[in-house]
Amino acid sequence: MNKKKNAVISCFFAILLSLIFFGGPLSAAEEGSCITSRCHADMGKDKYVHGPVAAGECAVCHGESKKHKDSPRRNKFGAIKDKDIAGVCFKCHEQFETRKFTHEPVETGECVACHDPHGSPYKFQLLSKGGEICFECHDNEIVAGEFVHGPAAVGGCVACHEPHTANYKNNLKAKGPALCFMCHTDQAEAFQKGKVKHKPVTEDCTECHNPHSAAKQFMLAKKAPELCFGCHKEMEKWVSAASVKHGALSTEKSCLNCHNAHVSDIDKMLALPPMDLCLGCHDRVQKRADGTFITNMKKLLEEKKNHHGPIRQKDCSGCHNTHGSDNFRMLREAYPPTFYIPFDVGQYALCFSCHEKSLVLDPETTKLTNFRNGSMNLHFKHVNKPEKGRTCRSCHKTHASNHPKHIRESVPFGTWELPVNYEKTKTGGSCTPGCHKLKKYDRVKKAVNK
Ligand code: HEC
Ligand code: HEC
Ligand code: HEC
Ligand code: HEC
Ligand code: HEC
Ligand code: HEC
Ligand code: HEC
Ligand code: HEC
Ligand code: HEC
Ligand code: HEC
Ligand code: HEC
Ligand code: HEC
Ligand code: HEC
Repeated sequence: MNKKKNAVISCFFAILLSLIFFGGPLSAAEEGSCITSRCHADMGKDKYVHGPVAAGECAVCHGESKKHKDSPRRNKFGAIKDKDIAGVCFKCHEQFETRKFTHEPVETGECVACHDPHGSPYKFQLLSKGGEICFECHDNEIVAGEFVHGPAAVGGCVACHEPHTANYKNNLKAKGPALCFMCHTDQAEAFQKGKVKHKPVTEDCTECHNPHSAAKQFMLAKKAPELCFGCHKEMEKWVSAASVKHGALSTEKSCLNCHNAHVSDIDKMLALPPMDLCLGCHDRVQKRADGTFITNMKKLLEEKKNHHGPIRQKDCSGCHNTHGSDNFRMLREAYPPTFYIPFDVGQYALCFSCHEKSLVLDPETTKLTNFRNGSMNLHFKHVNKPEKGRTCRSCHKTHASNHPKHIRESVPFGTWELPVNYEKTKTGGSCTPGCHKLKKYDRVKKAVNK
């Protein structure tokens, strides 16, 4: 009795199992197809289904099916060997254009490392979307910087990189600035129009910008001045060695206070004509680190109409080294800061970088200077003294004045503003300074001073 019962149960399970394993009867449409209600049922249901899969043509890739030995109604495919996959793909797809560079997984035929051969939720049957597919193999550190480039941030890697083969290194779509100009058309236009172009910008934008991400704004690895010093080593040496430093280099945008980074219409890539640059900051009283104040140069030049030659030429750099200097007031050459000084022509190197130095070397002259009494050179007489030589500043203003020949109205002498009282005549002049009583000079008829 029990035996019979067991046999019935066994039989029942045998039928159940065979139904599970071999399926019930198939519909006419399913007969012979690989996609049935029970086999590969999900195949073809993705958002993006590969062409041949949609057409149910499994065999083009998997080879002709054999019937399952133990299940004559099921098809059995051969597996595709890894090394054969690319070959299978190129049966239908055009072989990639041969170019100089091939992405390694393409070289090794790993098409299915990125593409699902059957279908996927993503365009081109990619295994994941955007940059995620790339980060399967590449370190996502490249987009970990605080400032991430627009297209890299949204996984637009293939906006710049070819996934398969490319003509340019790093599988790039274009080389140097052309890559960036594909999108930054405004930059391209400005760059083409500009007269003075920064050399690295003509070569490769990535000399300064990281194409993916970086620690500083605009995907820069460093800010000015460090960014600039990366290449301008000489300038770095100069700036750090200078004993008189310029606040313009250490405030706000540093080098970029005066220079453009890419291109400009003005020499040396200046952001504005040089004098406008200087007066852009020196339009107010500036304070030195030691607390002393610096003249409002813009106001001075507006008030004093008679401008010194180089200032008329808008050339502040004729006398000042804007990047710092070892001379007082950042002057390019030596110039005495005091009222008196024992004579040494080297002390006046600044003035004599443009003016003739015989002005103070020859005791007698009939042409070197108008500051003479008869042929007695009064420049020689005042300046060229072994002890209390008068420096140029005791009579002249450097930037501008309202007097002819930049003669000063007064000279700071200690705490006293020593008046000069200069009068000019056709053939000479006179002064009644705090130093001595009225003295005249005349080039034609030598004046006699008591
Ligand atoms: C364009 C070529 C191609 C077509 C068409 C194709 N396959 Fe595949 N299939 C492959 C490749 C390549 C692999 C190996 C993938 C791998 O190694 O990950 C594969 C793997 C498989 C696998 C085993 C691995 C898996 O993904 O589960 C099955 C099952 C499979 N295919 C079924 C089918 C069926 C069913 C069809 C027809 C509806 C079909 N394939 C059509 C290329 C194809
Ligand atoms: C039997 C021919 C055939 C084979 C083999 C084949 N494909 Fe395709 N593939 C097609 C067809 C057809 C399309 C659909 C084309 C269309 O929609 O324009 C397609 C589309 C694609 C697309 C999407 C292209 C697009 O523009 O949307 C990708 C990616 C792709 N195949 C990759 C592969 C890969 C990888 C392999 C190898 C594993 C492969 N194909 C093998 C026929 C084939
Ligand atoms: C590293 C990932 C990766 C590998 C490996 C790869 N592809 Fe692609 N493939 C892509 C991406 C990403 C796209 C989409 C490109 C786009 O958006 O312009 C693509 C697009 C395609 C397309 C459609 C557009 C086109 O360029 O014609 C085909 C076809 C294709 N791949 C075939 C292949 C074949 C065949 C292989 C193997 C020889 C392969 N891919 C290997 C990532 C890959
Ligand atoms: C299946 C793994 C894999 C995937 C996915 C992958 N790569 Fe690669 N890629 C490599 C390998 C391996 C190399 C060569 C070794 C290296 O340079 O790291 C490489 C190299 C590169 C290089 C340097 C090429 C050169 O000339 O040195 C770039 C750029 C690159 N891949 C970009 C991408 C992008 C973009 C994606 C996404 C569309 C991507 N990769 C997806 C494996 C992959
Ligand atoms: C704006 C264009 C651009 C975009 C977008 C872009 N890259 Fe790059 N990529 C480059 C350039 C240019 C290089 C050349 C190396 C360099 O100068 O840093 C490069 C180099 C690489 C390298 C090889 C060198 C390295 O740094 O390891 C990999 C890998 C890489 N990119 C992956 C990616 C991935 C992944 C994405 C998407 C998240 C992506 N790239 C997006 C332009 C781009
Ligand atoms: C695929 C298009 C594309 C390419 C190619 C491209 N960029 Fe961009 N870039 C963008 C987008 C989009 C933004 C974000 C929008 C914006 O700020 O203007 C951006 C932003 C920037 C910014 C920041 C601008 C700002 O105001 O914050 C810099 C810097 C930059 N890109 C430099 C580059 C460089 C360098 C290259 C070449 C290596 C390059 N880009 C290539 C699309 C691109
Ligand atoms: C010598 C370094 C350097 C090179 C090379 C360089 N840049 Fe820049 N770029 C900068 C600096 C510095 C800034 C920030 C400017 C500022 O703060 O005034 C900047 C800003 C930008 C900006 C955002 C601000 C703006 O002007 O819209 C974009 C976009 C940009 N650069 C694109 C490019 C492109 C494209 C190239 C190549 C053609 C390039 N850069 C080459 C240094 C450089
Ligand atoms: C990647 C290297 C590099 C970086 C970074 C760089 N420069 Fe340059 N720069 C050069 C080269 C190369 C020249 C051309 C030198 C030559 O012709 O002698 C140049 C020239 C100049 C010139 C002179 C232009 C002329 O017409 O003579 C100035 C000014 C300048 N750079 C300023 C800067 C500033 C400011 C920065 C920082 C924002 C900077 N540079 C960053 C490489 C660089
Ligand atoms: C206050 C404005 C100003 C600042 C700030 C400034 N520069 Fe200049 N730079 C100039 C002027 C003006 C010139 C051209 C005349 C000269 O050499 O004085 C110049 C010239 C240059 C030159 C060309 C030198 C040559 O001999 O042809 C380089 C390189 C340069 N600057 C780099 C820099 C760097 C790097 C920084 C930041 C550390 C910087 N500049 C900051 C105003 C400035
Ligand atoms: C971005 C603002 C800025 C610009 C542009 C600027 N300066 Fe200055 N300058 C300063 C500041 C701030 C100081 C005071 C701090 C210091 O340097 O001691 C200063 C100081 C000076 C000094 C006095 C230095 C001393 O220690 O006695 C001279 C001279 C000078 N600047 C000349 C120039 C010239 C020439 C230019 C144009 C090429 C210029 N500056 C452009 C900000 C600027
Ligand atoms: C002919 C040479 C020369 C030219 C050109 C020149 N300077 Fe000077 N500058 C000097 C001398 C010399 C001093 C020191 C004056 C003194 O102490 O009496 C000085 C001092 C300064 C000071 C410091 C003033 C103070 O109160 O200590 C500033 C700021 C300055 N100049 C800015 C400029 C600017 C801006 C220009 C262009 C508009 C310019 N200089 C053109 C020679 C020149
Ligand atoms: C960068 C060149 C340069 C430097 C440096 C320079 N000068 Fe001049 N100086 C000129 C020019 C140019 C004139 C105008 C000559 C003319 O108009 O014929 C001039 C004119 C003068 C005049 C008036 C001449 C006249 O006929 O009105 C005096 C005074 C003078 N300079 C004094 C000085 C003193 C003092 C120094 C040193 C602190 C100095 N200069 C440094 C270029 C320079
Ligand atoms: C004692 C006052 C005094 C001193 C000190 C002085 N000068 Fe003069 N300088 C004058 C007078 C006054 C004139 C105008 C002469 C005339 O046109 O009648 C003049 C004119 C000039 C001229 C215009 C050309 C000429 O010689 O007629 C230059 C340039 C000049 N001085 C440069 C200098 C330099 C450089 C120094 C310092 C090395 C200096 N001066 C020191 C009083 C002085």
